[in-house]
Amino acid sequence: MLSYRHSFHAGNFTDVLKHIVLVEILEHLAAKEKAFEYIDSHAGAGLFDLTHGHAEKLEEFRGGIGRLWDRDWPELRRYFEIIRACNPSGSLNYYPGSPLIAMHFLRPRDRAWLFELHPKDSRRLEKNTQGSHRIRVACQDGHQGLLALLPPASRRGLILIDPSYEIKSEYEQVLETVKKACRKFSTGIYAIWYPVIEREKKVRTPTSLNLI
Ligand SMILES: C[S@@+](CC[C@H](N)C(=O)[O-])C[C@H]1O[C@@H](n2cnc3c(N)ncnc32)[C@H](O)[C@@H]1O
Repeated sequence: MLSYRHSFHAGNFTDVLKHIVLVEILEHLAAKEKAFEYIDSHAGAGLFDLTHGHAEKLEEFRGGIGRLWDRDWPELRRYFEIIRACNPSGSLNYYPGSPLIAMHFLRPRDRAWLFELHPKDSRRLEKNTQGSHRIRVACQDGHQGLLALLPPASRRGLILIDPSYEIKSEYEQVLETVKKACRKFSTGIYAIWYPVIEREKKVRTPTSLNLI
């Protein structure tokens, strides 16, 4: 049973860092005419209400997007355009997850594949992305789902691997998945959230892999 819910953490400083990198890569992919595919192995719910429920409880977003939101950041223009598009009232009420950020870059020829194992978040994700035939949501293990899709038809793609690391074995599992994925799709762009943990846990570092 999954207990991690990203809604407690949405918009915190780690989300901001991750999503700024995500925007940079997507801008790069969308700069070329050729179609690309976006695969999000651990997609979350897609959109988070910062004024109610979980986010309101911990208020982590105040140390992240809350600190940056009302200032001018010309270098991060595209990222802030997306945040503002989610908050048309002008107040910071919502924060987009990786799938909704990616949606801003998808053209009719591009595709997105979103895996989210938590049934509630998967239903929310379905709702938050509905209406787009370019997007497929699956309530399925993202490691298996990702590997089954590779190589993508377009042969161009971004793979975001952003697990919750609830279970210790996930550190190893992510490395195994990336190794298998690189064998199937060596020219893919891989963005991996991989927390730095104490050395005594003896988790191999992913330096030999094609990581961003
Ligand atoms: C850190 S959150 C993802 C945040 C999201 N990528 C974003 O940036 O908005 C990790 C998500 O992975 C989900 N999850 C955990 N194990 C999974 C698995 N094996 N396959 C797919 N999703 C999983 C959790 O329910 C959680 O919503």
